[in-house]
Amino acid sequence: MEIIILKSAEVVAATGAELVAELLRVRPNAVLGLATGSTQLSLYRKLVEKNHAGEISFSDTSSFNLDEYLGVAIGNPQSYRAYMDREFFDRVDINKDNTFLPSCEDGQNPVLVGPRYENKIRESGGIDLQIMGLGYNGHIGFNEPSSSLNSRTRVKTLTQQTVKDNSRLFSESEFQPKLAITMGIATIMDAKKILLLATGDDKAKAVSEMVEGPVSAMCPASVLQMHERVTVLLDETAAARLRNREYYEWTYLQNESLKQRFGIVHEG
Ligand code: F6R
Repeated sequence: MEIIILKSAEVVAATGAELVAELLRVRPNAVLGLATGSTQLSLYRKLVEKNHAGEISFSDTSSFNLDEYLGVAIGNPQSYRAYMDREFFDRVDINKDNTFLPSCEDGQNPVLVGPRYENKIRESGGIDLQIMGLGYNGHIGFNEPSSSLNSRTRVKTLTQQTVKDNSRLFSESEFQPKLAITMGIATIMDAKKILLLATGDDKAKAVSEMVEGPVSAMCPASVLQMHERVTVLLDETAAARLRNREYYEWTYLQNESLKQRFGIVHEG
């Protein structure tokens, strides 16, 4: 894993956006894996800015989101489709016909959504860059602790803790979903490159378990230790519990100088 510790959440977002831009410059038709959540909001803002400044275009890209609530209609502002439209798709030049979420239409059998989504990803040639956040409990997508490390897109029950964490986003009278359809861990691991953003001291424990803990289904993000191209962008507070921090900072300096001399490099 390449661990990059940055001075603020703002710099995390700006660096993340620059990494996306680097990919789009060499691969304008990249297939992007996208995520929702609070952490991603500032990344989307930076990407929108770059798009409006003419630095990057999404017109030839396609995208697959990690997850979608089950039981929340697509038109509902609480759906992840609505989040993506509002925060990103409607603000950039992406062709919305090429943006996909594992949504379950009214009346559709949710069990069928997963295999279809997997096929769609495969037909697109696979995800070039999967962008994601990290749950307080170490979840990635909605793969909660104890999820099979070999799982594929499927219906998943959210933990009571995740429902509680997300309750801040729902008013009391609103239906809050307890089920979601999420890419599986094996689906995520198929992405050619992964970019994970985590900020804030409440993520520090999950970050240390992901990076320095044992690979375990009890911390689904720890499986990323087995992926050969993962970049983790952290702010100071999210990095606070890392024991090996000095080495990550040292490595970052070496990589920066390699980049200057030879172009883009990757540290696994
Ligand atoms: C959302 C998703 C989740 C979030 C994670 C962090 O699509 O897949 O795994 O990335 O729960 O959410 P925030 O950024 O709100 O803390």
